[in-house]
Amino acid sequence: MQVQQEAAPGQVRGPTQVAQQGLGQRVPGEASQLGARHAIAPFVALSVPGTAATTLPGSCHELSTALVTGANKGIGWHIARQLAEAGLTVLVGSRDPGRGAEAAARIGGDPARPLVLDVTDGAGIAAAAAGVERLDILVNNAGVMVDGATAPEASVESFRRTYETNVFGALAVTNAFLPALRRSAHPRIVNISSGTGSLGWSAGEEFPSAGGAAYRSSKAALNALTIFYARALPEFRVNALAPGLRRTDLAPRAASAAAGDPAEAAAAAVRLATLPDDGPTGGFYSWDGTPAAW
Ligand SMILES: NC(=O)c1ccc[n+]([C@@H]2O[C@H](COP(=O)([O-])OP(=O)(O)OC[C@H]3O[C@@H](n4cnc5c(N)ncnc54)[C@H](OP(=O)(O)O)[C@@H]3O)[C@@H](O)[C@H]2O)c1
Repeated sequence: MQVQQEAAPGQVRGPTQVAQQGLGQRVPGEASQLGARHAIAPFVALSVPGTAATTLPGSCHELSTALVTGANKGIGWHIARQLAEAGLTVLVGSRDPGRGAEAAARIGGDPARPLVLDVTDGAGIAAAAAGVERLDILVNNAGVMVDGATAPEASVESFRRTYETNVFGALAVTNAFLPALRRSAHPRIVNISSGTGSLGWSAGEEFPSAGGAAYRSSKAALNALTIFYARALPEFRVNALAPGLRRTDLAPRAASAAAGDPAEAAAAAVRLATLPDDGPTGGFYSWDGTPAAW
């Protein structure tokens, strides 16, 4: 069965701490898309000119190097492109060398550099990390949705495959690049999670479907890691993003007409990646900057 893969959880809230720092900028007309607090607001693709992150509101301007995993396509490619457009040198992570080189070339210029990185390959991760002296921003974006099975339908193997990339991969990459991140004066980590991984929304009315148990529980685990990294690394800014349903190759539902522009989700990731030093850490945010329920 297919999981109701992602919606844009639309809680109408007052300005949040993050919103005040630039994360919460809403696009014109967006409010009308939002339901009452805790309502299920199906994502409606928006025309969102001006949401590109090139102006990086409320951002730290002393960041120069970023790595985005799984950046050869989808949301990750847009994150890499937007960071490069903002003037950073971006390592465009890709498990396939050809796809990575092509993706970096599509961004263009010197700032985008392909980096071969399969997040499930420990030796490859170590080799990639050995070549990076200093890193300001790590975006753990690489992710898979192996199937949409409910827990009773699921195989242990599909859970293992999902967790290998979405959880163990993020853990392995983060730890391997920690020495380089620690050499940054402003280290930032952004974990690309999912609103469907929210336990609060899954237990409530927002995501009543039981489908996608492997994927959604892997994102819940990624959210837990976000908290634990933030606690362990108080000098870092570590946050998770629920990007909303986006038009990508992730899952069949992502290809549906309801899916939104991946560039809009990328802009939210870039805002988290470039938070100032007094920005939040250990948080989970929807693409529009509102706090997501754990
Ligand atoms: N699209 C949505 O609606 C949505 C909603 C919520 C969350 N997300 C999250 O957003 C992130 C990006 O997904 P997307 O929607 O942009 O999907 P996508 O277009 O399928 O992109 C996924 C990316 O991850 C890469 N990847 C997968 N396994 C990898 C591995 N072992 N090592 C390195 N890279 C790997 C893929 O590389 P290949 O090209 O080599 O496969 C691809 O570049 C994921 O974490 C996903 O869970 C997406």
